Amino acid sequence: MAEILPVDEALEPALALLEAGEVVALPTETVYGLAADATNGEAVARIFEVKGRPRFNPLIAHVSSMEMAEKIAVFDPASRLLAHGFWPGPLTMVLPLREGHGIHALVSAGLDTVALRMPRGFARDLVGRLGRPLAAPSANSSGRISPTNAAAVEADLGGRIKLVVDGGATPVGLESTIVKVTPEAPRILRPGGVTAEEIEMALGVKVIRGGAAGIEAPGMLTSHYAPRARIRLNATDVADGEALLAYGPTRAAGAEEAVAVLNLSENARPREAAANLYAYLQELDRSGARMIAVEPIPEEGLCEAVNDRLRRAAAPRANPSAHT
Ligand code: TXA
Ligand code: MG
Repeated sequence: MAEILPVDEALEPALALLEAGEVVALPTETVYGLAADATNGEAVARIFEVKGRPRFNPLIAHVSSMEMAEKIAVFDPASRLLAHGFWPGPLTMVLPLREGHGIHALVSAGLDTVALRMPRGFARDLVGRLGRPLAAPSANSSGRISPTNAAAVEADLGGRIKLVVDGGATPVGLESTIVKVTPEAPRILRPGGVTAEEIEMALGVKVIRGGAAGIEAPGMLTSHYAPRARIRLNATDVADGEALLAYGPTRAAGAEEAVAVLNLSENARPREAAANLYAYLQELDRSGARMIAVEPIPEEGLCEAVNDRLRRAAAPRANPSAHT
């Protein structure tokens, strides 16, 4: 059972938990979110663990001010106009990450863009006090519908989290609209709390509805985060010119000869492995190795998602020049 606290008593306890790298379920104006410090990889990994997500989809980073938002992402004029028109509120924008953004790679799923939103009410106050963005997907187990009241969150996730902040029924009741402004037109990646018409009114241009949903869906993003080097899974030895992505206390044969070795988690802790995954893949890629050998990783806890991500990175690629 999680503790359930009303919003006017929850700010300090929620802050303490978030500072300690824990997750907190909280109300936003759209749906209840499962929040963690977006700059803390292990905290973000906990979100996936609690939701039981089989995959690491990119998450929305929630900000409290334009100042915080501009430190994280680069705003084009149209996106800035939308922020002024609809923030705080049920609008999320996908924007290029800015140098030194501080967002953990698990939030952006290793992409060079981030989904940003400034929520209304308690969630915004909390981000303001924390001074760092909060990553928060809807506070439900993977595959269930998004909760719009605290009791629904408690019934689903109560056994796995410490605190549910109760702000009553969420006024919007469905997720935020996700927009990406492209050179052609603003594109609605997910319809939600702000309508296409409202966005068209604010910008004075037509939006593209849903058209590229397939392209933006996480499963289709594989090529964006596939490393340059090839990936070899379940490696029990290391061949000439290979880098090694290790897991746990025992090493593959020939590990001493590897171009570079990084261990996702010496003690075989799935959450730590999840937090390290993207950064380590990138670092091993930079070593110049032609191949990254990956030690066997048992399918337990978050390592199911780690393996899913690695399998997709290892899959044959559509464009062979992408890894030359
Ligand atoms: O109303 C909401 O948006 C709620 C509340 C809690 O804020 N949050 C929410 O998060 O619905 P979630 O994780 O259930 O949905 C996030 C969506 C996913 O469909 C994900 O693929 C997309 O945002 N997304 C995140 N980052 C992205 C990116 N860089 N590019 C494209 N899509 C992205
Ligand atoms: Mg959701």
